[in-house]
Formats: sequence, C-alpha cells, structure tokens
Amino acid sequence: MVFTHAQIPNLEGKVALVTGGGNGIGFETALSLALNGAHVIITARSDTRAVEALAQLNAALESNRSQRKSSLGKIEALTMNNEDLNSVKKFAHLFLARSDIETLDILVLNAGIFLPPFKLLDGIESQFMVNHLAHYYLARLLLPKLQATEKLRPVRLVIVSSDAAEFHPDTKIDFTKIADPNLGKMYCYYRSKLGNVLLSRGLNARISSGSRIYVNSLHPGHVATNIGSGMQLGTILTTIATTLVRILQISGKDGALASLYLATSPEVETNNIRNKFFFPYGVERLLKDRECVSDSAVEECWAWCETAIERIVGVEAFNLN
Ligand SMILES: NC(=O)c1ccc[n+]([C@@H]2O[C@H](COP(=O)([O-])OP(=O)(O)OC[C@H]3O[C@@H](n4cnc5c(N)ncnc54)[C@H](OP(=O)(O)O)[C@@H]3O)[C@@H](O)[C@H]2O)c1
Repeated sequence: MVFTHAQIPNLEGKVALVTGGGNGIGFETALSLALNGAHVIITARSDTRAVEALAQLNAALESNRSQRKSSLGKIEALTMNNEDLNSVKKFAHLFLARSDIETLDILVLNAGIFLPPFKLLDGIESQFMVNHLAHYYLARLLLPKLQATEKLRPVRLVIVSSDAAEFHPDTKIDFTKIADPNLGKMYCYYRSKLGNVLLSRGLNARISSGSRIYVNSLHPGHVATNIGSGMQLGTILTTIATTLVRILQISGKDGALASLYLATSPEVETNNIRNKFFFPYGVERLLKDRECVSDSAVEECWAWCETAIERIVGVEAFNLN
C-alpha cells in the first residue's frame, strides 16, 4: 500500500505541532495538515524565522486552496530553538498555557540539521542536541498534554529519524563520546538519528500497550531540501556522493508523506501501528539490527538525556509549574 496526499483524512478540530515547519519536509507536512483542516503550530528557530515561515506557509495555503477537501486550517509559527534547551522549556510553557489550545492530536518531531561544522552546545555535539535531545525534552514536556488528549481521541507522535540510524556502528550510544570532536560529522548524524529511534522505543515503553497514543519513527526518503546547506564538502568523494544523492532525491511534498501517513492515516489505529519504523510512503521497514536494540540501550539513552537536561536547565527542568 502506498500512501498519497489524497488519502489524508479531514483533520478539522485537530491540533498539530510540527517542529522545524518553516522549511523542507516540515513545511510540506505543516501545509498538508492545514490544507486538510488541522490547526497547525510550527516551531522555528528564531522570531525572525517564525515570521518568515508563517508568511510562506500562509501564501502556500492560499495558493493550494483549490486542493482542499475541508475548511482550511489555521497556521501559527512560534519560536523554539533546538540548540537551546531553555528555549524548548519556554516554548512548552507558553504552548501548554494557551487556554485556546485544548488538545494536542498530532506531534511531529521533525527539525534537524545535517553535517554542520563541529560545535558543542552545553557540552553536547550539536547534531545530537538539535536532532535528538531537544526533541526528547519537548516530548517529555508535552506528554501530559498528549495523555489528556488520548482520553478524548487517538493521538499520533511522529519522530522523523532517518535510514542513517542504521549506519551507526552500534545499536547503543556511547555517551562518553558525546563531545568528542574526532568522530566525524557523519558519525554524529547517525548517532543523532539512532537517538530518534531510541526515543520512539523509550516513549512506547512508557505508555501502555492499550494506549491511544501511537508513537512511531520514520525515514522520509532522500528528499530535496535545504538540509545539506550548512555542509562543508571536503573531499571529491563527498562531492560525488552528494551529486548522486541529489539525482535520486524525491520532492519535499513526497518527502512529507511518510510523516503524514503516521500522523493521519486511519490505518495507524486500525492496524495498531506503534513502535514501528516506516519508509516512504507508508511502508513498514525493519531497521536491520536496530530492531535488536536492547531495552538497556533504550533506557540508558533515556536516563542519560534526562540527566543532561537537568544539568543544563536545572533540577526543575521537567517541572513547568
Ligand atoms: N532531506 C532528507 O533527505 C532527509 C533524509 C533523512 C532524514 N531527514 C530528516 O528530516 C528532517 C527534516 O529535514 P529537511 O530535509 O526537511 O531539512 P530542512 O529543509 O533543512 O528543514 C529542517 C528544519 O529544521 C529547522 N531547524 C534546524 N535547526 C533548528 C534549530 N536549531 N531550531 C529550530 N529549528 C531548526 C530548520 O529551520 P530553518 O528553516 O530556520 O533552517 C527547518 O525548518 C530532519 O530531522 C532530517 O534529519 C531528511
């Protein structure tokens, strides 16, 4: 079965949150959710990016108006910088304080960076911080809202990982090397995307098997977006590899379909799809040896992330009151 945009159901009355919704796959995901009637909130790294992204999304919403099957959803853009865990906490606090947002039906953890120059953020390699740790923190802070929503109706939590998770040399993360500048940027990307898979497993371990919160992760395909723009092409080999990848890339619109499948398809509930990894376009995929990830690897990652967040944000990191 291949999922298409035409199969997205009417989402009127649902609230969706998409991180990194101002560009690439997140932009197309947010646009499709709003075109099908959802109230969509995207996060952007700065106030300036939020304003720009909102203008672009509203323009795209207007120009795609003819495709709509429902009322157009409203889109909002709020600031949350994945480089800064205090920004994540501030965003979650503001979001949860909104009396007009009663539910959170769809959460798509999508924002990401790929092969930036090596940088430490609060002592943590930047790809791990942006792609994984900020999302782990956000998911933890918003879990009570998801749990309140599931009492009313089913909820989807979608984690945009990558097939890159398969290339991490081990099924567990060696946290003694989280600040090591000698590992290579690719290794750090693989590690961050393995973190996404471990987050999906960790969340599933914390919700009951009968829960109506469906948590899954995915590879969106090799998608033509801006994600490599910060990448420094060092060698002839990487230049050739990048050129080949560009030839094979799918569009951003198609790249959103794996997320949209897990976020909206009724099949997720009818087939009880949870704790799985998906490929485009709505195809379940066994993640090679990642399927054998031990519970101890999942729990070690969960606990390490919790401790790191408390070190950076403070002992009240998980308390929003
Ligand atoms: N493209 C692919 O082939 C591919 C393959 C596998 C997995 N993925 C995954 O798909 C996801 C989306 O990637 P994409 O290809 O759509 O890339 P993209 O076009 O570069 O979009 C990434 C989004 O993340 C946002 N972002 C980056 N750093 C951020 C920060 N510090 N704080 C807040 N937001 C931040 C970006 O904001 P700005 O708009 O301000 O830059 C942008 O909205 C990523 O998780 C990526 O790892 C992509």
